[in-house]
Amino acid sequence: MAFKLSSVVPWGRNIDEYREMFLLTDSDMKKKIAGFGDGPASFNYQATEAGYSVTSFDPIYQFTKEQLEQRIDEVKNIVMKQMSENMDNYVWDRIPSLEALENVRISAMRAFLHDYEKGKLERRYIYHELPDKLPYEDNSFDIGLSSHFLLMYTALGYDFHIAAITEILRVCREIRIFPLCDLDSNSSEIIEKVISYFRKDFKVEIKKTNYEFQKCADSLLVIKHTK
Ligand SMILES: C[S@@+](CC[C@H](N)C(=O)[O-])C[C@H]1O[C@@H](n2cnc3c(N)ncnc32)[C@H](O)[C@@H]1O
Repeated sequence: MAFKLSSVVPWGRNIDEYREMFLLTDSDMKKKIAGFGDGPASFNYQATEAGYSVTSFDPIYQFTKEQLEQRIDEVKNIVMKQMSENMDNYVWDRIPSLEALENVRISAMRAFLHDYEKGKLERRYIYHELPDKLPYEDNSFDIGLSSHFLLMYTALGYDFHIAAITEILRVCREIRIFPLCDLDSNSSEIIEKVISYFRKDFKVEIKKTNYEFQKCADSLLVIKHTK
């Protein structure tokens, strides 16, 4: 099925959030990093500015800057209204208010848009839809990241997740997935089954992070090659 712009809800996080969610140390940041479903996050831009190597993959990178800008404008108020109706589902400490949330998300997405065309030319934003084969050799990256995509959209199903994570682990030495709950902050049978599947052949760890905005979304899954 074609990936339609009208079904995209662009919403992006920044490098401080990525570093906390994924426990990315200074030494991790010096490795080759790939982000899957990075969308309009400013992580790639800010990491590149700081001299690090990040390549982002997302189906939204098939669209132009103007199309994404327009879509961000269209959905901003809808998302903020939904947030205001569900404030009890979030922890309002690091981001203390709806206004602060809007500022932090919009400034991340503005930074992404500013960098988008340059980043596409530099092959840092690559149009790709999981679980399709990635245009990279085995072990091309040290760390693969998935923020608020894999294991969160559980409706994509078990087979999708096994195929997508298997393909990521072909090109990355390890993958880190945050958070370990679905869109309603619930753990799900799919998450348990996916973890059991990869435990057979990989080193699998669940780590607690200090990042918790969506309530209960405070754990990170790490799956590593053993050899
Ligand atoms: C909630 S956003 C998260 C954006 C970013 N990772 C962050 O945390 O700020 C989910 C992203 O997953 C992307 N996505 C949806 N389907 C995908 C697929 N099949 N393969 C890769 N990314 C996908 C969406 O386009 C969107 O950018």
